[in-house]
Amino acid sequence: MTPIQPRTLGTCYYPEHWDRSIWEDDAQRMVEAGLSWVRIGEFAWSRIEPREGEFHWDWLDDAIEILGRAGLKVVLGTPTATPPKWVLNKYPDMLAIDAQGQPRKFGSRRHYCFSHLPYRAEAGRITRDLAERYGSNNFIHAWQTDNEYGCHDTVVSYSDAARSGFQNWLAARYGDITALNKAWGNVFWSMEYDDFSEIDLPNLTVTEPGHIHQLDFMRYSSDMVVAFNKVQTDILRGHTDAPLIHNYMGRIVEFDHFGVGADLDIASWDSYPIGFLSDRLEASDAHKQHFLRQGDPDFQAFHHDLYRAVGRGRMWIMEQQPGPVNWAPYNPAPLDGMARLWAWEAFAHGAETVCYFRWRQAPFAQEQMHAGLLHPDSTDAPALSEARQVANEIKAMPDAKTAKGDVAIIFDYASAWAWFAQPQGADFDYFRLVFDMYRALRRAGQNVDILPPDAPSLDGYSAVFTPGLMTIPDGLRKILQSTETPIILGPRTDTKDINLTIPTPMGPNVEGLDVTVRITESIPPTAKFDLKGGGTARHWFEHITGDAETYIETIDNQPVLVGSSGLFYLGAWLDEAGFDRVIQMFVTPHKMPAGVRVRDTDTHRFWFNYNPHSVTIDGNEIPTAGVIWQKL
Ligand code: GAL
Repeated sequence: MTPIQPRTLGTCYYPEHWDRSIWEDDAQRMVEAGLSWVRIGEFAWSRIEPREGEFHWDWLDDAIEILGRAGLKVVLGTPTATPPKWVLNKYPDMLAIDAQGQPRKFGSRRHYCFSHLPYRAEAGRITRDLAERYGSNNFIHAWQTDNEYGCHDTVVSYSDAARSGFQNWLAARYGDITALNKAWGNVFWSMEYDDFSEIDLPNLTVTEPGHIHQLDFMRYSSDMVVAFNKVQTDILRGHTDAPLIHNYMGRIVEFDHFGVGADLDIASWDSYPIGFLSDRLEASDAHKQHFLRQGDPDFQAFHHDLYRAVGRGRMWIMEQQPGPVNWAPYNPAPLDGMARLWAWEAFAHGAETVCYFRWRQAPFAQEQMHAGLLHPDSTDAPALSEARQVANEIKAMPDAKTAKGDVAIIFDYASAWAWFAQPQGADFDYFRLVFDMYRALRRAGQNVDILPPDAPSLDGYSAVFTPGLMTIPDGLRKILQSTETPIILGPRTDTKDINLTIPTPMGPNVEGLDVTVRITESIPPTAKFDLKGGGTARHWFEHITGDAETYIETIDNQPVLVGSSGLFYLGAWLDEAGFDRVIQMFVTPHKMPAGVRVRDTDTHRFWFNYNPHSVTIDGNEIPTAGVIWQKL
């Protein structure tokens, strides 16, 4: 067990963007602002090795030395998300290919296909060069592999390399082609194969390809990300004992983060609350208007809780939004106070470190409209004083573990792929379903843990939820029989087997819970199935049969929540009022003003006001965009 780490701040810095003459001053200003960490190098390949085998280490040696001597701890990134042009000239077929069969060309970043083995080896080679040079450098206290796997929709690629890799992967999984034909149901539409080499990728088919064909391709694509990352971690481990980290993103589910995380020491993620609100969230216009300059009040917390699980307790924010970003459809500026609130929220959810992206706004290239802690002319940008304030505040509250959740939700990447392959309704999205439940738990003031599907225990929670879990894995099935924790399965849980096929007996097949789902409906946004006692089913509705007792039903007497002896099945996606009712059967909600959220550590309770106005809670005022805490 790693001891509790002190709370620290940092920033992302690109010495290669600035004249050498200002590095020292930059480093001093970082230290003076109270920052401890500086991440560098993750896009600098063309300056480290401008031509194959021609290394220019001097500038990087100097940068590390200057930052380190100033008292900063360096996180060094492997530059493999930005292979320079010469690498592409060497491997012209290393580009990812989109679903339309078009190459995703050079001229930005992440222009590689995870299946391309020569590029994977080249990425390993530059990682080894860096590791050999800096693995025992005392100023380097952590390493970052690559940058944001999956960013810009880059996990899945329909390249030749992916096709042959997928064929080999299928041969290893199924052994012989008859087994694959059976598992995939290829008798349907005469889709049977004679040999693995005949199997193509599931794009450009006339109508939808087999769902299991798609699901297996996503499983394969995820495995390629895990394998790509592992090449780097294996090399780095041979040269350094410093922790290895990757910076994940918000709402990226195309690869199994638990799988990548198993080879790393810390899970970090890049938190851009206002960009995400605009870019990545289903919400009403009124919601987006209310939280315009603050971000959604649950989106950050969800990812803190998810990545804390991915990092087996160790989580960082590698990039924290400091001001307007450049990449969302609309890019408003945060309210004063948000750069502080987001940092404290991350700490309350267990983050060890929060690094602001980036130190100084770049006056050139794609991200020149993206704010930093400094303006392009080196004057202080607004977030710098907030970072300084947090740095002073953490001196008084240097560390604490986040509290164990009151409740938990299981999150399963493979289920996200399954329902992507087979949505069965335009609004069915796994992340969206899980996030809706998470929000309801947070509205009720609960501390939430997010657990992987192979969590060893569900004990100690008031309730555990498994929305949308395609198949209950064997280990979890056993736990369901022994745990005393109430478990709320559904909707859409355990209704398929591992091959995305409807089992007989039809699911869910959970001992002790007499429930069967034989008919499911997806519901258009204009329709609602109202519940007796308040709330509505929307998006998804299952017809439940069986002897389990009914706790919630529709106004025309169709069961919605049923259960027996601590096991429950929820057969519908509910609106806010509906989910609130379900949750209140298992927990006592905190009374909180709308837009306020709470999180406990082992020592304190934190209240976060995401509203654009002040609120009062238990007689205490929380200012606009403010955070307050009380000792527990
Ligand atoms: C992240 C990325 C950074 C930068 C930032 C801008 O996704 O890791 O390199 O592009 O977004 O918000």
